[in-house]
Amino acid sequence: MPHVFPHRHLLGIDPLSRDDILFLLDEAEPWIAFGRQARKADQRLAGLTQFNLFFENSTRTLFSFEVAGKRLGAQVANFHPGASSVRKGESLIDTALTLDAMRPDVMVVRHSETGAPHQVAEAVGCPVVNGGDGTGEHPTQALLDALTMRRRKGRIDGLKVAICGDVRHSRVAGSNIRLLPKLGATVRLVGPAALLPADTGGLAAFTDLDEGIAGSDVVMMLRIQRERLEDGVAGSLADFHARYGLTRERLDRLAPDALVMHPGPMNRGVEIEGALADDPRRSAILEQVENGVAVRMAVLDVLTRGRRGAA
Ligand code: NCD
Repeated sequence: MPHVFPHRHLLGIDPLSRDDILFLLDEAEPWIAFGRQARKADQRLAGLTQFNLFFENSTRTLFSFEVAGKRLGAQVANFHPGASSVRKGESLIDTALTLDAMRPDVMVVRHSETGAPHQVAEAVGCPVVNGGDGTGEHPTQALLDALTMRRRKGRIDGLKVAICGDVRHSRVAGSNIRLLPKLGATVRLVGPAALLPADTGGLAAFTDLDEGIAGSDVVMMLRIQRERLEDGVAGSLADFHARYGLTRERLDRLAPDALVMHPGPMNRGVEIEGALADDPRRSAILEQVENGVAVRMAVLDVLTRGRRGAA
């Protein structure tokens, strides 16, 4: 029996079953080869309208959602809050209702406030995808991370994944911490105490990077979310690099087979050594970006199937 995705929106990982997640990964897989063709045109979303509402900056997520929608034939429109009536005090919900009146078929929402895409989803008449909400979740990032791990390591079940750096403020961590255990991976959190979540939800936590990454199969590095920190919490960048920066020397000594991942944007010389990030044998950073387009194509396709009358 083909798997039917039972969710209207993609706001977070909690509602997804293991089978829902594996279904999305399987749906994404063929779009990787598709993306490597010269002609990248599929028409399954032809005539549908996709709105991207990014109230926070983005390079990878916004651009890849736009590319994903266009490769599927959708009409994609990007809403620019800086040039909109948001500047005149229009609220998030009024903005969402206004845009919804133009009858989009899917919306992607990024916002600095945790839970904002959920509020939009309650108010509008189309599927909503969370493109990153405050310190909450970033579900398509966790899906693309899982797809990247599965392709590079051949499996997710049984992998030891160390998530390192500013875990507390990272919505990428927020979604990965929920997704990876559903697929049988073991997650460890690594970082200074002030940047680890107050409640680790039963996951092992380490304040020493060497201890935390020892024996890992995947080391996922995260940027310090300066925009979400009180001044001074992070200390000096040089100190941070000395204690928590991932270098080739550390990786070779403690986790010689580990795959290095980073959702971007990375700060070279802070959480990760530039040369290590650039080494495609050790680092999957650009593969994550490529797989991100495939995952977003799968999500846009699957969430609009009902509207298209597709199975
Ligand atoms: C992340 C985000 O915005 O949550 N970037 C991304 O989408 N790949 C990570 C970050 O900002 O550090």
